Amino acid sequence: MYAEGVPFSAFGMATSIWTRHHILSLADFTPLEYDTVLQTASSFREVLSRRTKKVPTLQGQVVANLFFESSTRTRSSFELAAKRLSADTLNFTPGTSSLSKGETILDTAKTYLAMGTDMMVIRHREAGVPQAIANEMDRLGVRVGVLNAGDGQHEHPSQALLDLFTICTLLDPAYPRLDLLKDKKIAIVGDILHSRVARSNIWSLTASGAEVHLAGPPTLLPQLFANFVKEKKDKGFKIKNKSDESDSAFILSPLSFQRKLFLHWSLAPALKDADFVMTLRLQKERMTSHLLPSLREYHQQFGITRDRLKLCKPEVKVLHPGPVNRGVEISSDLMDDPQFSLISQQVTSGVAVRMALLYLMGSGKN
Ligand code: CP
Repeated sequence: MYAEGVPFSAFGMATSIWTRHHILSLADFTPLEYDTVLQTASSFREVLSRRTKKVPTLQGQVVANLFFESSTRTRSSFELAAKRLSADTLNFTPGTSSLSKGETILDTAKTYLAMGTDMMVIRHREAGVPQAIANEMDRLGVRVGVLNAGDGQHEHPSQALLDLFTICTLLDPAYPRLDLLKDKKIAIVGDILHSRVARSNIWSLTASGAEVHLAGPPTLLPQLFANFVKEKKDKGFKIKNKSDESDSAFILSPLSFQRKLFLHWSLAPALKDADFVMTLRLQKERMTSHLLPSLREYHQQFGITRDRLKLCKPEVKVLHPGPVNRGVEISSDLMDDPQFSLISQQVTSGVAVRMALLYLMGSGKN
């Protein structure tokens, strides 16, 4: 049973401009690629609103979810997205797999390849594992697409794309697109240091022309982004330092468009007149030393509450990638308040966005 009247012509146009074989990072995503994902996801969102929510697009293809680290949202939504596109899905659970008998990760990936897998969705606690598997697939000369579903502290591209889709859909439900965010102010608050979600969001949100303000305790901000800034400088990016009382700001200007990124080690300047506030989970599993006095103190200084939102624009919205430590990063009542919270919409957006990614990567094969 399939949904009728799927706008295949719009989808066809999207795939004709899509050349990316793997999705591992958003660092080099172009505005055209962001808009292609947004508009394809928008078409799938419409499909998902129908009584029959399934399309035959990836019939006969196999999508393997190789999650070496735990997940609720990402894993389930990639699985549902693949099923809505009529792909066959394989799910891997490390605890009951042959990893426990000493099989390597690359050999595990090659085992799934031998079963006819067309796309691999990879999550791993170490940065670089999806890239290593993609390199191996390329070396073998097979046309298997690899999607990074979160690797260590590095990146979580599909999360940032669903965050972007959630925001742009709110701003224009009929035509979500990147330039809707131009000159908006977006605060990303909390454990930036350990957050792959923040890293991917920095790429996507700064590509839109938004001002991105990072705020957190100094111990949870990446060494003033020193390495990040140096790396960009080495690649020819212009860097402008600007002092703002106790805060620092960097404006990175790549050749084609400006990226506006600011750092604050107090909350108020980041929240002032913000259009959107994205708060992040404290990644306790990645903290190797005592980086915070206590969760209570963290909440007092950086927790997002109704009271603190008074600093923002009146129509401000709050995002959180989940899972949430209620009462730590965000007050429990605010998290459940539909006037401010986009957390449920983020989860809903995840299915349409992941359908778009699987579709764009897989449709060339059928
Ligand atoms: N946001 C996110 O990646 O959630 P999960 O760990 O539940 O997949």
